[in-house]
Amino acid sequence: MKKVVILTGSPVKKGTTDALVEHFAYGAQATGNKVERFDTAFMHITPCDGVRECKVEDDMTKITKSLVEADVLVFATPIYYFTMSGQLKIAIDRFFNLGETMKGKKKVYVLAAGGGPAEAMVGLTVTMDGIIKYMGWEKAGEVLAGNCPDPGALAKTEYCMQAYNMGQKVGM
Ligand SMILES: Cc1cc2nc3c(=O)[nH]c(=O)nc-3n(C[C@H](O)[C@H](O)[C@H](O)COP(=O)(O)O)c2cc1C
Repeated sequence: MKKVVILTGSPVKKGTTDALVEHFAYGAQATGNKVERFDTAFMHITPCDGVRECKVEDDMTKITKSLVEADVLVFATPIYYFTMSGQLKIAIDRFFNLGETMKGKKKVYVLAAGGGPAEAMVGLTVTMDGIIKYMGWEKAGEVLAGNCPDPGALAKTEYCMQAYNMGQKVGM
């Protein structure tokens, strides 16, 4: 059983990001893994204040233990202006304070939905690939749901099934 922690960045409750995440989570749970989900857009997470010894007490403290102990991390976001949403980025910036404890052996999946084509998500993939390399993590997969401005468009594609299949394989 792997500990899977999903961080989402969409402020839309039943949108495209949520659909991808739900499918991934079903797949991971179906194969006996423990899944925790944190929706950063609905949490009180303040932006990094640039202080290395961050003493800010907000909802980030509810996520920290899970993040550090996770075997698998999933970052799920709508594309906002060619990259991840600000909500998700603010949470990721706060990893800085966790330092070495976040580094090491973790598998990472990226789920994203955008109204434009998947090729226009390069801002997200370059950023995520940089973070993954810096942290010493392993990129295990991504679903880049291009041309999906809303759940109706997403439902006509294979992306949710891809997310489900990826979730099923997290333990492998
Ligand atoms: C502020 C904002 C900026 C956006 N920028 C982009 C973009 O640069 N590229 C893109 O493909 N879609 C963009 N979109 C469309 C969303 O990524 C798309 O509708 C996505 O499916 C929304 O996901 P959600 O339902 O989880 O919120 C933008 C949407 C908003 C609200």
